[in-house]
Amino acid sequence: MKLGIVGKGGVGKTTLSSLICQAYVAQGKRVLAVDTDSNPNLAMSLGLDEETADTAPVVPRALVVGGGDGAMSPQRLIADYGLKTPFGVTLLHAMRVDQAGAGCTCTSHVTVRSLLGAAIEEEADVTLVDMEAGLEHLSRSGGTLAYADVALMIMEPTVKSVVTAARTVPLARELGIPRVYGVGNKARLPGDAEFYVRAAAEHGVPLAGIVPFDLAVGEADRRGGPLAPGKGDAVRQAVDQILAFIDSPDEERVALLRERQRIEERIAELTAQA
Ligand SMILES: Nc1ncnc2c1ncn2[C@@H]1O[C@H](COP(=O)(O)OP(=O)(O)OP(=O)(O)O)[C@@H](O)[C@H]1O
Ligand SMILES: [Mg+2]
Repeated sequence: MKLGIVGKGGVGKTTLSSLICQAYVAQGKRVLAVDTDSNPNLAMSLGLDEETADTAPVVPRALVVGGGDGAMSPQRLIADYGLKTPFGVTLLHAMRVDQAGAGCTCTSHVTVRSLLGAAIEEEADVTLVDMEAGLEHLSRSGGTLAYADVALMIMEPTVKSVVTAARTVPLARELGIPRVYGVGNKARLPGDAEFYVRAAAEHGVPLAGIVPFDLAVGEADRRGGPLAPGKGDAVRQAVDQILAFIDSPDEERVALLRERQRIEERIAELTAQA
């Protein structure tokens, strides 16, 4: 499974990347996370300290991953540049820019594209790419996520972020990503859940799930530390539901979507009565 996490700036891509990786590790899967932000911070969300994150090796630009001449095997790439994190996720820094005037990161995008196109499944059951904000990587020659199986477009409860997701849908489909879904993050229930259901439908964004607003997320960010919610936590449960949705066969996914909508409507009813 190869997953791309995309969306407008600040919507929660890195937070959800970390939570999704942790959820897959809890399922016993081997997880590789790729941070493609030129100012990477997934490392901290995965439990690494600032110094380790800042000094970790960056995958060289223009490196081609695969089996051909001059290419580096995925196994070697992970051995040379993979960073073990306390949460059991292996992390690659693909884009960190340390020097002024370092030039554009296009060739690093080519590297990540080749990594997803290579036989990465032999090294990792799940490869997740936390993308830099914006749509550029989806249209960049060939597209960084061309070989992804799923694109999750993270949104916050604003029309602008839903519109960004709606603009992403045709680009991602054109790239050939078979499954493209929106995820509503930072939802203060029930109003924001209703907003997501309505706005996503209006803008043609298929919704995979809704993640509640959680003060613990902000606290973890203020500490500069990881967020490791327990099994009973609402954000963790929401992420587990999203994974069940994207990992399920088509018909089951439709049934889960209906069930989720029914639960959300019931929560809204109960909250209104309280
Ligand atoms: N579910 C949530 N509940 C509460 N706060 C959240 C939630 N998700 C994200 N946040 C907060 O939103 C802010 C942005 O989160 P994050 O860094 O994950 O976004 P991003 O999309 O990766 O941003 P960027 O575009 O800069 O990479 C942070 O302050 C984070 O604490
Ligand atoms: Mg981020």
